[in-house]
Order: sequence, then C-alpha cells, then structure tokens
Amino acid sequence: MLTTIEAAARIDELIQKIHHHNYLYYQEHRQEISDLEFDVMLQELIKLEKQFPDLLREDSPSQRVGGTISKEFPSVAHAHPMLSLSNTYTIDEVQEFEERVVKALEKKPEYICELKYDGVAISLIYENGILVQAITRGDGVKGDDVTPNVKTIRSIPLQLMGQNIPNRLEVRGEIYLPYSEFDRINKEREDIGEPLLSNPRNAASGTVKMQDSTQVARRQLSCMVYYLVEPKQRFTTHEECLLSMKQWGLPVPTTWQKCSSIESIQHYLTHWDTARFDLPVATDGVVIKVNSLAEQDTLGLTAKSPRWAIAFKYKAEEACTPLLSVEFQVGRTGAITPVANLVPVPLSGTIVKRATLHNANEIHRLDLHEGDTIVVEKGGEIIPKITRVVKEKRIADSLPITFIKNCPECASPLIRTEGEAAYYCPNESGCPPQRKGKIEHFIQRKAMNIDGLGPETIEQLYSKGIISTAADLYSLQYKDLEQLERFGKKSIDNLLSGIEKSKQTPFKSVLFALGIRFVGITVAEKLAMHFHSMDVLSKATKDQLLEAPEIGDKIAESIIDWFAQIDNQHFWKRLEAAGILFSLQEEDKLKIETDILNGATFVVSGVFQKYDRETLKETILKNGGKIVSSISSKLNYIVAGENMGPSKLEKAQKLGIRILTEDEFDSMLRSES
Ligand code: IVH
Repeated sequence: MLTTIEAAARIDELIQKIHHHNYLYYQEHRQEISDLEFDVMLQELIKLEKQFPDLLREDSPSQRVGGTISKEFPSVAHAHPMLSLSNTYTIDEVQEFEERVVKALEKKPEYICELKYDGVAISLIYENGILVQAITRGDGVKGDDVTPNVKTIRSIPLQLMGQNIPNRLEVRGEIYLPYSEFDRINKEREDIGEPLLSNPRNAASGTVKMQDSTQVARRQLSCMVYYLVEPKQRFTTHEECLLSMKQWGLPVPTTWQKCSSIESIQHYLTHWDTARFDLPVATDGVVIKVNSLAEQDTLGLTAKSPRWAIAFKYKAEEACTPLLSVEFQVGRTGAITPVANLVPVPLSGTIVKRATLHNANEIHRLDLHEGDTIVVEKGGEIIPKITRVVKEKRIADSLPITFIKNCPECASPLIRTEGEAAYYCPNESGCPPQRKGKIEHFIQRKAMNIDGLGPETIEQLYSKGIISTAADLYSLQYKDLEQLERFGKKSIDNLLSGIEKSKQTPFKSVLFALGIRFVGITVAEKLAMHFHSMDVLSKATKDQLLEAPEIGDKIAESIIDWFAQIDNQHFWKRLEAAGILFSLQEEDKLKIETDILNGATFVVSGVFQKYDRETLKETILKNGGKIVSSISSKLNYIVAGENMGPSKLEKAQKLGIRILTEDEFDSMLRSES
C-alpha cells in the first residue's frame, strides 16, 4: 500500500501521462501507446483515487468517464456576455459588411475566415491552466453550468499545456456530434425501437444537457474552439489568439485562413461550399472576423452582435416541386412515419422523389395541404427534408393533410404515448410490416446472424405464407425454398446451413434478437449475465429486473410487457424447442468461477483499500452473488468501505442487514470454498 505522498506522486505522473497521450490522440491524431496501455493507466488512476479520495483532482482524466448525476444545472452569469453574429446569405451582403468596416476604420483591414460549426455554443473557463467551468449560452447573459458533462469530452483538455498560460482564460467554442457518432447512436436507437435523433445539432444540445454524465461520455461529443474572450490585453490579433489557444492544447480548427480582400474571402466561401461536406462535422457557413483586436474595439458591438464579424450562411441547395401524395409507413416497432411523394426534381446531383416528414408535428409545422408546392433541401444529411411550403402556389380550397387515425396496413386504431411525437400501430402481432420487421431484426448480424437471408427473401417467404414469424425459419424445408424466385440450389443450401448454424448463437444475442423494446445488445448482455437463463428472466418481477445492472423502470416495464403477451411466450418456446440457446453456455459461464455466494444479494458502498468498486462487484458476480442497488429488508449483505453514507448505514442497521468489511467479505469467500 502506498503512502499518501507516494500516491500523490503516482497520481500526478499518471495524470500527466494520460493528458499527454490524450493530446496526441485528439489533437495530433497519432498514438504512441496502445488503447490497452492507455486503459491500464486510466484504471490505475481511478483505483488510486478511490483509495485516496482526498487526492482526486479537478483535472483528473478519470472524470472523462462520467459518474455525476445533475438533477439540474446551476444557472450562472457569464463574465462576458455571449453574443451571436448577424447572418448574411449572399456575397453582396458580405460586400456591404466589408464596406461598413472600411468606412468605420478608414482603411482596408485584414480578416480571418473560419468555418461556422453547427452545434451548441460553450464558454470554457480555465484557472491556472485547469478547466474549472463550462457554461452554455443560455440567454447570452446567464447560462447553465454543465461542467461535469463537458469534462467527458475528450478533445477538450482538462489541463492546458505549454508556456505563458494565463491565470484566467475564457474561450468560446462549439460542441458538436460528429456525423459518424450521430449515425452510430441512431443505429443503436433503431435496434431498440427508440425514436431517432433528428440531426447532429439537436443531438449535441440534448446530450450536453443530459442528467447522467456517464451517458454523455458514451456519446462521443467533440468540440472546436474559435474565440478567446480573456485575457485580450496580451494579444494584438485574432490570429495570435488562435495560435496561442492551439499551443495550449485547445481544439482549434486548422481550416481558418487570413484574407486581405473581398476576392480572397469569396474564394474561401466558394471552396468550402462543397469541401465542407467532406468534413466529419456539420458546418452551416463561414464566419468572417476582422483580425486586429484594436480594430475590433474601434468597430465595437451592437446590442446583440459584434460589428467586427459576420456569419455567411450557406444556402442549402434547394428545389421547388409539387407534392403528389403523403404515404404512411409502418416500422418494426409500429412507429408510423409520414413520407412525401414528390414530382421528381433534380437536387445536388440526384433526383429527389421522396422526402421524410418525420411525424405529425412536422406536418402541422409545415401546414401542408394537398397538392402544395414545397421546397426540399439537402443539408449534410443524406435524406432530403421539406423546409417549407410555397404558400403563393397553394391551390384554392385544397384540404390540409391530416394524420391517419388507423394503421394503413392492418387498420388498427393508432395510439400516441404522451411525450412522444410518433403515432404507433399497437397491433404488434398482426400487422405485416411489424412482423416482417421483427424477422429482419432477428436475422441481422448482431442478432442471430443468419447467412443467406435478406429483406427481399423475407418479403417473398412472408408474402407466400411460408413464414409468419422468425420461429418458422427453423421448420423450413428444401422444398419450401424451391418456390422462391432467383433461389437456386446453392442459395437454398446456404440459407439452410445459415439457419442451422444460428442455433449456436450465444444467449445474449438471442435475447437481443427477440426485439424486446429498449433491449439493445448491451442491455441483453447484462440481462443474460444477471439472470443466466430465459426461464429465470421470464419469471422475474419488476423489482428483480431493477436489481440487474443498468436496468431502469422503462426497460423493466418493457420486459414484463413482452413476457405478458401469450404470443411472445409461444414464440420463444418454439425457438427453444427448435434448439436455440436460451441459457448461458459453459464458455459464457467461465466467467462465473464458483457458486459460493449462492444467489445472496449484495450492496457495495464506500471506498475500498484492496478492491476498486467494479472489481469487487465482479468478484461477487463471479462467485454466484447478485448486486442490487438499494437497501431493503430482502437484502442479505452490505460490503461497506470507508465513507459509506451515514443514512445508508443507519437504514441497514435498522433492518438488521449484515455489514461486511472487505476483509470479512474475503474470508467469507475463502471459508466457504
Ligand atoms: S465567433 C463574438 N466563430 O455561431 C463572436 N462563432 O451565430 C463569437 N459559431 O454564437 C462567435 N462557428 O455558437 C464564431 N467559427 C466560429 C463559429 C461560431 C460556429 C456559432 C457560435 C455563435 C453562433 C453565431
């Protein structure tokens, strides 16, 4: 065991090393060590901080993983108001801006052109080189302190590096969700039947305000810093500010450019009009800033925005076309998506025939009528969206488009859950697209991974009445498949062997394949490890489900609902009879070493000497115990470390629950083995 002094020195060394490698990775895009080596250092740091809680530092990279719950974010006043920029849309307007500037300065200044990032504005405050506060724009005067969430963003340094770091530094930047991360999250949401995030900007602003910083850490937000607010005195130009911020390790973009004439500004605008689509992040324009800080002062501010800068917003390429019809599509989960069929129109190199209308609110927002001429636009996202209706072209007396009341596929009355934008068809077991969607979900790679089967084959099998649920796949015969178009002997053999092979799919993937709402692959794994078999899971009460790691009310209720439906019971029983694995297998169980703890329930609380908390929990699980989150009369043991809350202790004593030190827990494991 280290002394406090030794631990402090080691913590310092680890923090420096981790910051260094983080900087290399996020700013210089290179690695000197492997991910594993990086993780080992981080784990050692987390463990030491648990052993020596007094040594936890504000700039510790352990905060990158989250762990703070913020019921609400304190509202704090900005030391300097957060201004916005006035927008322009044409080069003529930019020229007018330039003329105003030249007139006020009585000379032609130098400008810096930068990309305008489309995310959520943030103010970052560093004291003595350490990130101490991150505040959202709010109303420009006051914003929300979202520091714990922002500390999880790996491209934002928790500690600055280099020379001449000011005592107090305040910078402004934009937090954004890279396209790749936006797509990953939406794919995951699709898997569990959650409504999709509409665009990266809304997703970024929603994520920054999430209550649980562990959830924020899971979404890989990023940041660009583009403005230094304080200390201004030591700089003479914005360019110097950008260079210094970069040297201190802040994520300053490399795409800015110094321009001395309207022609070079125009060149920058034209270049990035198309080049920006190759960037991993959404941008919606260019910001043009006067470079000299003295000249910025001369120009001054209006109430809302500086006179020394202007935003040029790219007009998303758009086209006008008449609406032919609105079609309502039914997804796997029964969610209804309205889709507009349009008179085909060319737009950014493709012909647009359809555009999503998202949900009923969107139809209402647009005030869409039959036969309306609409404007479609293609932004960074691939699916074109309808931005507005050209009201002047509206046909007299045309009727407003109304949302359907019944499912277009099975006629069931639609339902809408409070707080959700989407309407749903509740007929899960009888509505054809929901049934086909469930089969598609079942066979996908992350689930049963059935080779040789795709949406078209499923469509054929379903429409010919050969299969109606995924369970029917396991009774398919050679002769059934001979009826399919473009399906020769090779395809048939391939499919049958794919189906056969899928019987070896591990329990956790089977559980995911069932398509229980909110049960994604991670949740399925937790459930499999906790309950070990479908039999046990199917009988679990809500309280028992809540005892499993990461299972909250919403997931628990969805699981109970699923098992309550008789069709689902038949479904998994048929799959089980066909030979699908519905329990953990030996190789999964290898993780479970003994059964010494024999199903006893444990709460782990406080800080430990020998174990870090996660290892202690794992040890309990590996030895047949269960972890629960709350203290109740049904609880068997509490393993209590230092700093266990007094109210917890009192409650446990009142209920007569056995409280173990970690040494007592150790001997319990040994004595019974
Ligand atoms: S400068 C006082 N530069 O656009 C000037 N803003 O509509 C501070 N933005 O509030 C802003 N990229 O949220 C600046 N390169 C950039 C930017 C940028 C995006 C955002 C920012 C700002 C808004 C103005």
